[in-house]
Order: sequence, then C-alpha cells, then structure tokens
Amino acid sequence: MTTDNPTQIRTEAVSVSFGGLRAISNVSLSLAKGEILGLIGPNGAGKTTLVNCLTGFQRPTGGRVLVNGHDTSKWHARTFRMRGIARTFQGGRLFKEMSVLENVEVTGVSLGLRRRAAALEAHGILASIGIDHLAHRLAGTLPYTDERRVAIARALVMKPDFLLLDEPAAGMSDHECEDLTNIVRSLPDNHGCGVLLIEHNMSVVMGLCGRIHVLDGGRTLTEGAPDDVRNDTSVVDAYLGSDV
Ligand SMILES: Nc1ncnc2c1ncn2[C@@H]1O[C@H](COP(=O)(O)OP(=O)(O)OP(=O)(O)O)[C@@H](O)[C@H]1O
Ligand SMILES: [Mg+2]
Repeated sequence: MTTDNPTQIRTEAVSVSFGGLRAISNVSLSLAKGEILGLIGPNGAGKTTLVNCLTGFQRPTGGRVLVNGHDTSKWHARTFRMRGIARTFQGGRLFKEMSVLENVEVTGVSLGLRRRAAALEAHGILASIGIDHLAHRLAGTLPYTDERRVAIARALVMKPDFLLLDEPAAGMSDHECEDLTNIVRSLPDNHGCGVLLIEHNMSVVMGLCGRIHVLDGGRTLTEGAPDDVRNDTSVVDAYLGSDV
C-alpha cells in the first residue's frame, strides 16, 4: 500500500545490484514538493545510484520508484523529465563550446520552445539565480563553481516539480558555498520545486535541509531532522566523525 502525497517522488524498498555488488539495499525515501531533503553518506554509499533510480538513469533491481503515485518501472529517463523531475550531475555536463545563455536556451528549445522564447526564458532564469552577468561567457571557460550554477539554471528551464542536485558545492570556497546555499534555499519558493540535495559539506546540508536521509554501504542508516542526524552516534561513527 502507498500513502502518496499527490506531488511527491518516492522509492519503496529500492535495491540496485551491479553484478555481485549491492550498491543500494532496500532504501525507502520520499521527497515532497516544497521541501529540501538532504542525502548524505560516505563515498560509495549509493547516493548517486539512488538519484539515478529517481531520474530513470538506473532501473532498480528490486523495489520500485513512484512519481506522484505512478509506478515508473516502464519509464525512460525522458519520461521522468517530462513528468517534472530534473537533475544535475556530479561531474557537470555543459556544452563547453556554447555560451552560458545557449547552454540554458538549448534545454528550452529541446522542450519545444522557439529560439526567441527559449532565450527570454533562459535570461529570466539566469537572473533569478543571480548569474545573468555570465550569459555570454563560453561555458568551457567557467570555473566549475559557476558551472554548477549554470547546471542548476539548465535544470530549472524544465520548470521541474523536483530538482535533484548531486554535490553542487563540491570544491567551493566558504563564500561560494554561501552563495550556492542562498540559491538552493530560494528554489522551493521561487521555482516551486522540491529539492533533493546530495552534499558532503555539512554546514550547507544542515543549513538547508528540513530532513536528512543518511546512507552507508547502500543501506539507510537513519533519517531525521538535522539536529537528530548530527547527534546520531551511528552517523557520527560512519560518516560525520567529530567535524560537526
Ligand atoms: N555503473 C556502475 N557499475 C558498477 N558499479 C557501480 C556503478 N555505479 C556505481 N557503482 C558502485 O556502486 C556503489 C555506489 O556508488 P555511488 O556512485 O552511487 O556512490 P555515492 O554515494 O554517490 O559516492 P560519492 O560520494 O563518491 O559520489 C559504489 O561501490 C560504486 O563503485
Ligand atoms: Mg556520487
């Protein structure tokens, strides 16, 4: 039985095996529109694999993924996108020979917008996250902290109900993290989406997320409010150490 909020994505006891390696075991989590959910855990814990399942890039080998109550087992990645689920990638995937504006615009065109409408839309989105001054820079010349912001802008063109961000602050300075934190914090209100945030920077995660889901070795260690997670001894032992 499912008790689905009409606008939520959820995994139900999802498992993923790669040959003999069990990358995800029995993980259940949900993300509602309007919330920011943190997904944390050590390297190799299965965070990206879980996001791949939630976006159609990886089929679960067990359990299922539900989008707004619909079973997605026959969906392709494109179907997930059309149903309002957008993502960014851990490594960033911009078209390096194109300008920032064109990178964002091309997503609009692929959704069926005419070039001019797509450009207008792209300008609006770049402005909404404070990077319109980068519009005419070649994407390949950006420092990767700016690349991350452009990747978020590209995802927002789809007007997603859900946006899944895979380590958007990796390698950023404290100041850049603060800037990114402000962008992510504005997403539910300004763009109406639920956000799943994978991030190793704990001050970013703790400052942004209403709930945090912790994975370790492909299994759920715990899920709870930031303060509960911060004080959970199993999380401290497996991941946080005494840093937070
Ligand atoms: N396509 C694949 N084929 C085989 N093994 C894979 C594949 N993708 C991931 N894995 C393995 O699955 C496990 C989980 O990987 P995953 O990338 O999901 O972890 P992660 O939590 O995102 O780690 P990180 O913090 O380093 O990004 C790891 O052991 C990884 O080596
Ligand atoms: Mg990862």
